[in-house]
Amino acid sequence: MKVGIIGSGGREHAVCVSLKKSRNVSKIYCIPGNAGTSLIAENVNIPIDNFEKIKNFILSNAIEIVIIGPEKPLVEGIVDYLETYNIKVFGPNKAASQLEGSKTFTKNLCKKYNIPTAKFGVFENIKDALIFLENCNLPIVIKADGLAAGKGVYICEKKEEYLQAVHEIFEGKFGQADKILIEEFLKGEEMSFFIISDGKSYKKFGSAQDHKRVFEGDKGKNTGGMGAYSPSRLESKSLEKKILDKIIEPTLKGLNKMDINFIGFLYAGLMIVDNEPYLIEYNVRMGDPECQTILPKLNSDFAEILSSCVNKNLDSNEISWHDDKCLCIVLCSKGYPEKYQSNVEIKNLDKIKLQEGEFIFHAGTHNDDKKIFSNGGRVLNFVIKSNDFKNCRSRGLELIKELNWENGFHRKDIGFKVIDK
Ligand code: AMP
Ligand code: GLY
Repeated sequence: MKVGIIGSGGREHAVCVSLKKSRNVSKIYCIPGNAGTSLIAENVNIPIDNFEKIKNFILSNAIEIVIIGPEKPLVEGIVDYLETYNIKVFGPNKAASQLEGSKTFTKNLCKKYNIPTAKFGVFENIKDALIFLENCNLPIVIKADGLAAGKGVYICEKKEEYLQAVHEIFEGKFGQADKILIEEFLKGEEMSFFIISDGKSYKKFGSAQDHKRVFEGDKGKNTGGMGAYSPSRLESKSLEKKILDKIIEPTLKGLNKMDINFIGFLYAGLMIVDNEPYLIEYNVRMGDPECQTILPKLNSDFAEILSSCVNKNLDSNEISWHDDKCLCIVLCSKGYPEKYQSNVEIKNLDKIKLQEGEFIFHAGTHNDDKKIFSNGGRVLNFVIKSNDFKNCRSRGLELIKELNWENGFHRKDIGFKVIDK
């Protein structure tokens, strides 16, 4: 079977590595991919927003399944477009992708089906928003509607902060804004929870804990994710039942009532408050870097699972997992998430000897001849699977030290809540 993957991050490299192990996969194409994917897949240099070129490439190379990694093409309807050409795609269509693309769509669904989430209001102009805010308790959360690549969320402790948030959003800092959401601040611990669905049935697909802030101790700006570990330390049978009963199932049923089938990975960003789950947001794809910590634990054949989803018989497939822990440390370019230098050579990568259960997934890298260069803020993911989180982290840190990349920086405390408690 020939498979195609759209995207170029650590998530997509991890997907390629898992697919490579599958019995039935004969060839992998990655559009556009990175230096890491080029070692096991054929990278194809087509921009991910050029749906027509992507479609032509898929058809002329007889690619049997296409997996969409990032949210943007999903929200823009790549699945609907490719399906009109009878291409089998793993990922939700445009209607289902509103779960990530429109915060008001998701909030309204929560309201209709009693899904626990922060109390909220939607406001269409600065004046109404400010009148409402005058009477709110602080801290308060203000969000731009629509995709904002992890930005567009303000946690406001003071009046000056919410004034700034409301003005910046309506003035178009995250694209044209017709509405903002004002949300109650939930105090608890976050958890990323995943399911996989074929549109008829679903299965759990692991949990993880991301580390979004740039500095140790969860300080500083939000990033795409500085590291993760799986499973989440909060995972338990009783919590899982609450998440499925109160959040996942009402969501899928609610979508069904609108004639929307969800095919793909659904990622619930949760806040756990006193062992009760609240939905913060949905993402309609795997998390990055969560994916890099979940896929290495998969024992079943990944291509078979994806294939059963696009053929709507996920039910007939058992998904089995290794019992291990897995932890990922992201090596970033100095300055990320703000200004950073790109195109800095990464030497020594080929000298690092990885053992079983150790991976370096590439994110922002490209190669030129035999040399590898950085090409983004998040550059490499050091992922270790073992029976103990502490071992995972110390080995990851050791490998980063061995690489000794001059332009790199990373958090040394990934997993602190589960390791250093
Ligand atoms: P989001 O882009 O919606 O994931 O929000 C980014 C981050 O803001 C989340 O990972 C949370 O840490 C935080 N956040 C968002 N909404 C809330 C909320 N209602 N209460 C507390 N923290 C929140
Ligand atoms: N790790 C956060 C995300 O993928 O959105």
